[in-house]
Amino acid sequence: MSKPWGFNTRILHAGEKPDPGTGAITIPIYQTSTFVFESAEQGQARFEGREEGYVYTRLGNPTTRAFELKMADLEGGEDAVAFSSGMAAISSVLMALVNAGDHVLTNAVLYGSTYDFFHGMISRYGVSVSHIDMTDPANVRAAITPRTKAIYVETPANPTMTLTDLRAVAAIGKEAGIPVIVDNTFASPVLQRPLALGCDVVVHSATKYIGGHGDVIAGVAIGSRELMGRVRAEFLRNLGGVLGPFEAWLLLRGIKTMALRVWRHTENATKVAEFLASHPMVEKVYYPGLLDFPQHELARRQMDGMGGMLSFEVKGGVEKGRRVMNAVRLCELAVSLGDTQTLIEHPASMTHAVVDPAERQRVGITDGLIRLSVGLEDPEDIIADLDQALRA
Ligand SMILES: Cc1ncc(COP(=O)(O)O)c(C=O)c1O
Repeated sequence: MSKPWGFNTRILHAGEKPDPGTGAITIPIYQTSTFVFESAEQGQARFEGREEGYVYTRLGNPTTRAFELKMADLEGGEDAVAFSSGMAAISSVLMALVNAGDHVLTNAVLYGSTYDFFHGMISRYGVSVSHIDMTDPANVRAAITPRTKAIYVETPANPTMTLTDLRAVAAIGKEAGIPVIVDNTFASPVLQRPLALGCDVVVHSATKYIGGHGDVIAGVAIGSRELMGRVRAEFLRNLGGVLGPFEAWLLLRGIKTMALRVWRHTENATKVAEFLASHPMVEKVYYPGLLDFPQHELARRQMDGMGGMLSFEVKGGVEKGRRVMNAVRLCELAVSLGDTQTLIEHPASMTHAVVDPAERQRVGITDGLIRLSVGLEDPEDIIADLDQALRA
């Protein structure tokens, strides 16, 4: 048997073949809502799942399917389902796993809307949620109840960069028979592959490093054929958070350079983190690649690289932080992350404004925290811009 392809080869070739009709090397945008059947019998067979083939784009589309197959391959899962946003992927997977009366464990620090989904929304449907400090996996074991049906982890977590030991939590989940779902958005499959560490499901905001160019909102979930089949048949079909073929095509285009971009983001972020850590106006920097980051060793164990995201606190608190964000000239003051350009934002008043202020303080999302998605500019220019803003 020949050697399996490496990750960089699979980024380009997995899930895609030249178009059988025309030989086009790039998959066409199958911009169609519906697919014509050859006969009534064929239509029935497709609806009943007895014959493979497309029916209606809410249930599947060739351009979208190519993206799903590529993501399943890159994350090492059996199958994938694409969604119109990261939140559609997260909510659909969770709703496929729990019923009224069940309990979910999540880590304390989560992206704001994910926190709101768990804290403010899913509880209305009779599901209880415990947000716990997962930096010690023993806390996960201790918080499991007979009703716990899912363990949901974001690592590195948005925005404090807190890590969870995926191998340890996956082992606890296996022992208890509870699936572990990981939001791998910050790392991307280039730097971290949770399924290979024993976790069960990966979700992404594909809006970020996968698309990579700030021009598409999308999500994807990767896991077993059985679970993905259920997610598609029930939650994609009935809630309808489907990814459009054009957006899928943008993702297929963006992903071709994902590894190149993510490694360059990492290189740049390392330089920016080191610069900030030595700056007299900076109180603290949160970047897993820094030697004094409390979970640096864990980062080295479970990630191939440290990524393009970091957070920092400036001396002088909220007011000074606001002045820094208003003084940048190159960095763009905007939410989202993983874009080509450097983006700077204030979690407490923007991405995490929905989190209860006391809870934000408790988990380290302080009012003075600034989040940076380090872009692909020349790192000297990013550093010079931050320097002038910090001194402004
Ligand atoms: C870690 C993380 N997960 C999920 C999401 C939600 O993704 P989307 O905006 O594509 O719905 C975000 C968005 O910022 C995020 O940062």
